[in-house]
Amino acid sequence: MTQTSDDTGVSLADAFTHEHHAIDAGIEEYLASTQPDPLVRAAPLLGAMSALRRHIYLEEEIVFPHLPRGPLMMPLMVMYREHGELWRRMDALADRLQAPGQPADDVAATCRELLDLLDAHNTKEEPVIYPYMDSDLSPAEQAEVRHLLADGELPQGWVCQKA
Ligand SMILES: [Fe+2]
Ligand SMILES: [Fe+2]
Repeated sequence: MTQTSDDTGVSLADAFTHEHHAIDAGIEEYLASTQPDPLVRAAPLLGAMSALRRHIYLEEEIVFPHLPRGPLMMPLMVMYREHGELWRRMDALADRLQAPGQPADDVAATCRELLDLLDAHNTKEEPVIYPYMDSDLSPAEQAEVRHLLADGELPQGWVCQKA
């Protein structure tokens, strides 16, 4: 497989992998926080969740449709199914964050479930799916994905296929 990269030397696979790590870091920052103000404490978690929703949108709407169905049929089905699980877990987390008097332990437990799901998802997606982003997307498609990764927004009301 050939690996292409832009003038920063970062391949699309690397850029998406980097975003996985940034999302994990936001959730972990929430878990480690001793910030007494719940709104301030929740900020990195809310940021990670909105980044994850947009990340899933870019994968499902922009990247995955360009990947070869033959070798990736089954792995992509697994990715769509796991995106659905992640999405529902984020919905549960958002509800818990908004519920007055919700024990912080419940929110933290849901965060840990989300981190476990992400670990199981990303450790398959990175080696199995991502190499194809660099080998099977045309330079124009890669440029579009790069552009959206930098400033694309989740369309209002979009939910993933298996939410
Ligand atoms: Fe991903
Ligand atoms: Fe994914």
